[in-house]
Amino acid sequence: MFRDRQLRTTRWTADLRRSVTLFQAFRKEQTEPAVFYQALATDSADQLAHYVDLDGLTMLDVGGGPGYFRNAFQDRGSRYFSLDADVGELSGLGEIASGTVIGSGMQLPFADGSVDLCYSSNVLEHVSDPWRMAEEMVRVTKPGGITFISYTVWYGPWGGHETAPWHFLGGSRARRRYRRKHGHEPKNKYGESLFPVTVKAGLDWAQRQTDAEVLDVLPRYNPRFAYWLTRVPVVRELATWNLVIVLQRR
Ligand SMILES: C[S@@+](CC[C@H](N)C(=O)[O-])C[C@H]1O[C@@H](n2cnc3c(N)ncnc32)[C@H](O)[C@@H]1O
Repeated sequence: MFRDRQLRTTRWTADLRRSVTLFQAFRKEQTEPAVFYQALATDSADQLAHYVDLDGLTMLDVGGGPGYFRNAFQDRGSRYFSLDADVGELSGLGEIASGTVIGSGMQLPFADGSVDLCYSSNVLEHVSDPWRMAEEMVRVTKPGGITFISYTVWYGPWGGHETAPWHFLGGSRARRRYRRKHGHEPKNKYGESLFPVTVKAGLDWAQRQTDAEVLDVLPRYNPRFAYWLTRVPVVRELATWNLVIVLQRR
């Protein structure tokens, strides 16, 4: 079925207005998370629809969290399944929805080639072996299907998450500073639930792929005119908030 689907089915505009809108929503992430995550979920579904017709496909959202993305993808007709390692995260919006699996992205409990679209947003930097998770995502994607991986870049402005910008001085130091200042650990603990993942590591992994063709590597939130930054070593690490890697399974 997937082979018949046309890639780039819709136009998708990564203009400056979109980047500004997402940034404004991000500023409410702590106080009104629903505003940010709904905006991000809608934007993600729009972006995915650029690669594949979402209507009727089976998708797996690895590290889907509380479920903001579920509605956005179901609204477009996808059969949405989610996997997450943390029951607390999954129940963040109340009851855990059906079609949810508890497990690890680094060892997906699914057969090879079982989904049309394997998607992950902001999860790779939270697992101890990110590229193993990426391999697993490619493995469970059907031939012709799409794997979409998006992660927060360590040397980007939000690399340290709530410990930013102190992560620029080292993740352990940033974690200690946060603990001293707030009297408790950050939610994302460097070395335990937050790991440094770079743009270069993503590009190297993409280049090594033999089971999938790399369709795009791009900075998720940047406007299109700034995509060239991904090609400039050092600058790309600092200017990329989040890197997207899109692959088509062979
Ligand atoms: C920052 S949240 C991202 C949630 C959602 N995907 C988004 O973009 O808003 C990271 C999620 O990854 C999940 N996670 C962490 N380690 C994981 C693992 N090994 N396998 C699957 N999910 C994991 C967390 O429980 C959490 O829900």
